[in-house]
Amino acid sequence: ADINLQEIHDNLVAIAFEAGEMITASNPNSIKTGTKLNSVDIVTETDQAVERHVSSRLSTLYPSFLFVGEETYIAGKTKITAQPTFIVDPIDGTTNFLHGFPHACISLGLAIDRVPAVGVIYNPFLDTMYTAIRGGGAYMQRNAALAAKGGVSATANAASHPSFAKIKLPPSSPPRPLEGLANALVAIEWGSSRDGPNYDLKTRVFRQLAASQESGGKMVHSLRSLGSAALNLCAVAAGEVDLYWEGGCYAWDVCAGWCILKEAGGVMYSGNPTTEKGSEFEPPALDARVYLAVRGAETEEGQKEVAKEL
Ligand code: IPD
Repeated sequence: ADINLQEIHDNLVAIAFEAGEMITASNPNSIKTGTKLNSVDIVTETDQAVERHVSSRLSTLYPSFLFVGEETYIAGKTKITAQPTFIVDPIDGTTNFLHGFPHACISLGLAIDRVPAVGVIYNPFLDTMYTAIRGGGAYMQRNAALAAKGGVSATANAASHPSFAKIKLPPSSPPRPLEGLANALVAIEWGSSRDGPNYDLKTRVFRQLAASQESGGKMVHSLRSLGSAALNLCAVAAGEVDLYWEGGCYAWDVCAGWCILKEAGGVMYSGNPTTEKGSEFEPPALDARVYLAVRGAETEEGQKEVAKEL
C-alpha cells in the first residue's frame, strides 16, 4: 500500500508535542538516572518513559512498521532493514536535559529503504519545531506549541506575527555564503565514547580545526557544541552553523535531522576525514557512526569541496 508521508509527518508532530510535555514536566533533579556504556552515557527514566509512549503511539497507528529506539536498541541485534522503520531518540541531549541547558529535543525519523523519508525534531524548552518530508522541503517554527494551541491568533495571522510563522529552511534572507572551511562556524561533539581510537580521532579533528594555519591547522571561525546531534543538524539546515562533524553517532541521532538537512539543501557525508585513507566520501549509511553535515555553498560540488578540506 502507498505510504502517506504527510499523514505520518502530521502524526509525528502531534507525538512530538506530547513528548515535549512529558519532558518539560519532569524535573531532572528528582528522577532516576543511570548510565549505559560508560559514566557519561546517561539515561534517565524520562528518556525511557518518552520512548515507551512514542513506541506505543506509533505501533497503534502503524502496526506493520518497525521501530528502533535509543533506549530499547540491543547492540549487535537491532538492525535497520529496508522496511519502513521509525527511528527515535526520545531525548537527544540527555546530558543537557539533566543540567538544564536548554538544547534537548525529541527526534522522530522514518526511514524507508534505509533512507530518511520524514523527520520531526522538537525542542520543548525553546518551543521550536523542525520538520521535513522527503521531496517536500524543510521547515522551522518557533513558538510551535503556542501556535498549535492557537495562541495570539498566531496561526491565523502569521504574517503580522512573524515570530509564529513557519519558515522554510534555509531562511531566504540573504544566506551566508560558505566559501571554505576558513570562514565556517563548525559544530562538533565529544559524544560519550572518549577512549582509545575514538578519543584520538576526535582530538585530532578538533585540534586541526582550532589551530592556526601557521601551526598546521585549518583554523575555522570557531567551534560550537550544542550537545544534541539532532539539533546540530537542524542548526546546519537553518544556516546557523555551516558544518557539523561527529564521530560516534547512531541512527536515532541522525535519521530525522538528516531528512531536514537534505531538504534544506545540505549534504551528509560519512567517513573519517583525517584517517590515513584521507577524505573518503562514501554514500552515507544510517549506521555509519561518523558523520559530516554541510550546507551553504552554492552548489553540491562546492559543499563537497568544503567538506574535503576537513
Ligand atoms: C547524544 C547527543 C550528543 C552526541 C552523542 C549522542 P543522547 O545523544 O546527541 O550531542 O554527541 O553522540 O549520543 O545520548 O543525548 O540521546
